[in-house]
Amino acid sequence: MAASSASSSCTLRYFSTLIITLSLALNTRCAPSEPAEFEVGGEHGWRVPDNNDTWFYTRWAADNRFHVGDSLSFVYHNDSVMVVEKYAYYHCNTSKPIYVFRDEGKTLIKLDRAGPFYFISGNSEHCKEGQRLEVDVMSDAPPHPIVMPPSSPAAPAPAPSSAFAVAESLPLALFAFFTAGLARLFASHH
Ligand SMILES: *[C@@H]1O[C@H](CO)[C@@H](O)[C@H](O)[C@H]1NC(C)=O
Ligand SMILES: *[C@@H]1O[C@H](CO)[C@@H](O)[C@H](O)[C@H]1NC(C)=O
Ligand SMILES: *[C@@H]1O[C@H](CO)[C@@H](O)[C@H](O)[C@H]1NC(C)=O
Repeated sequence: MAASSASSSCTLRYFSTLIITLSLALNTRCAPSEPAEFEVGGEHGWRVPDNNDTWFYTRWAADNRFHVGDSLSFVYHNDSVMVVEKYAYYHCNTSKPIYVFRDEGKTLIKLDRAGPFYFISGNSEHCKEGQRLEVDVMSDAPPHPIVMPPSSPAAPAPAPSSAFAVAESLPLALFAFFTAGLARLFASHH
């Protein structure tokens, strides 16, 4: 019993590793070369989230991938956008913003470096109700550097080239698999 559960968790780990490897490969291949412009909050725009949904902008950010050179478009009325430090973001403190934008309509902000950016509404009540956004901008340096803690024993990280190999050979493997299945089916009918 213990052995079988250990082996199934091992299988699970194998598959999740495979999936991660595949998604790394796909991500790398589909990395946009053109800068993108993201409309913050989608159709909702930049305003207090509905229904006390204070995680609204966190989810929106998690659903997107931001690269250096992309821009964020904030669409709002009778409100503002502040670029702030992390501390001010967490405390909705509007007293010392890095930048303040009070455009009636739309503010376009370019993500000109990698790392975290913090935005809040200039109205701290709005911020506390969830109108704040953190985005993490990925550097476009060599594909997905895998940072290993120095103390951990050498667990080999999947090299990008082997990830490519998996992505390239997968369709071929699937094709071979289905062809073999068809051949067997065909043979069994004769
Ligand atoms: C939002 O939360 C407040 C209390 O925190 C509650 O009184 C109000 O009904 C909530 N509104 C909605 C739309 O859920
Ligand atoms: C604009 O916002 C301020 C404070 O948030 C509020 O007092 C005012 O009524 C608003 N004006 C309009 C036209 O919505
Ligand atoms: C906001 O931050 C400033 C320092 O930058 C501090 O003096 C002030 O007390 C803070 N305000 C609130 C409401 O936390």
